[in-house]
Amino acid sequence: MIGPKAIIHIDRLLSNYDRLKSHLNQKRIMAVVKADAYGHGSVQCARALENHGCDSFAVFSFSEALELRHGGVVSDILIFSKTQQEYIEPALQNNLTLNASSLSDIAILDSYKLSNGSIPNFHVKFDTGMTRLGISSKDAATAFENIKKNIEAECKGLYSHYATADEGDLSFANHQLSIFNEVTEIAVNKGVSFDTIHFSNSGATINLNQSKFDQVRIGMLLYGAFPSNEVSKNLSIEPVMEYVASLVEVRRVKMDTPVSYGGVYKTPNDCTIGVVQCGFADGIPREWYDQGFVGYKGKTYKIAGRICMDQFMVNFEDDCPKIGDEVLLFGKNESGEISMENIADTLNSTPYVIATGIKGRTQKEFKY
Ligand SMILES: Cc1ncc(COP(=O)(O)O)c(C=O)c1O
Repeated sequence: MIGPKAIIHIDRLLSNYDRLKSHLNQKRIMAVVKADAYGHGSVQCARALENHGCDSFAVFSFSEALELRHGGVVSDILIFSKTQQEYIEPALQNNLTLNASSLSDIAILDSYKLSNGSIPNFHVKFDTGMTRLGISSKDAATAFENIKKNIEAECKGLYSHYATADEGDLSFANHQLSIFNEVTEIAVNKGVSFDTIHFSNSGATINLNQSKFDQVRIGMLLYGAFPSNEVSKNLSIEPVMEYVASLVEVRRVKMDTPVSYGGVYKTPNDCTIGVVQCGFADGIPREWYDQGFVGYKGKTYKIAGRICMDQFMVNFEDDCPKIGDEVLLFGKNESGEISMENIADTLNSTPYVIATGIKGRTQKEFKY
């Protein structure tokens, strides 16, 4: 196999989970495995976490939830996406938990139960400042009154989502928290109770101690990356994905040799140029070429010239790697460590974009 490989270290995923559990005093973790577990393989990650003791999962789409169920995951699975009428029947059949994020979602569930006698479990979501999905807090009393009438038994959870929990300035996150606290009080006044209340994502798990309620929804930290540079990194997690690709050509060139499209890069000295079989079509960000580097046998080497669709070149200076050798694009192995966060920072992007961008001809390999 000469193309790009995402080696998924399941052992690191499980140890990240353990470290988070101990950081959270054993609080329940809802593992967020949407978008193929941020590119890490949702069924493999969820099954490993489930065997390790995690009993709560979240995905975005209905099909992602079915994939987990069909893949053997038996625990709770919450679907974040906007609920559609056609989800109700298969959600019941597959014991999937829906998201009620508007008064009309509540009305749809209510009328389905009146006509059919049962509905799937659901969590009710409030918008506290993300301005995405969620019932407005001013409609909280109406929402809880409508739930109370007929569908309280299936309303298992109450939640919201932070917009800025991984930022240095937490004033807006605290504002969201105070709105959410008001919503929870309205629920109490209306006599609606929940099995679970959750608000925190990775950023809030680190930054907002008081908002963890009885479980937290964690994605990025489980995969071993910090959500931003503005959170404390005082948590010893390890990158789960090791992204590598092979050298398929190696040649010596003279100083001033142009490399790749546009000839924007010219070799500063006589050097060895290696061709790596991985391109932007596989998810390595094209903009990374300018300041980017790869790891090889404990050293880093500069990317030489623009990243192409399927391949890119590296300046190995006077070293002589062999055709077939693998270079580290990011993650951690015996060649060293290149963090997704570092690439994301350089590109003014986020590790979420880098991780979920891995695609194309990339093969996944799981290490247990
Ligand atoms: C609703 C919701 N909760 C939790 C998460 C997990 O966020 P993180 O990966 O920052 O932990 C996400 C991810 O975007 C989300 O959309």
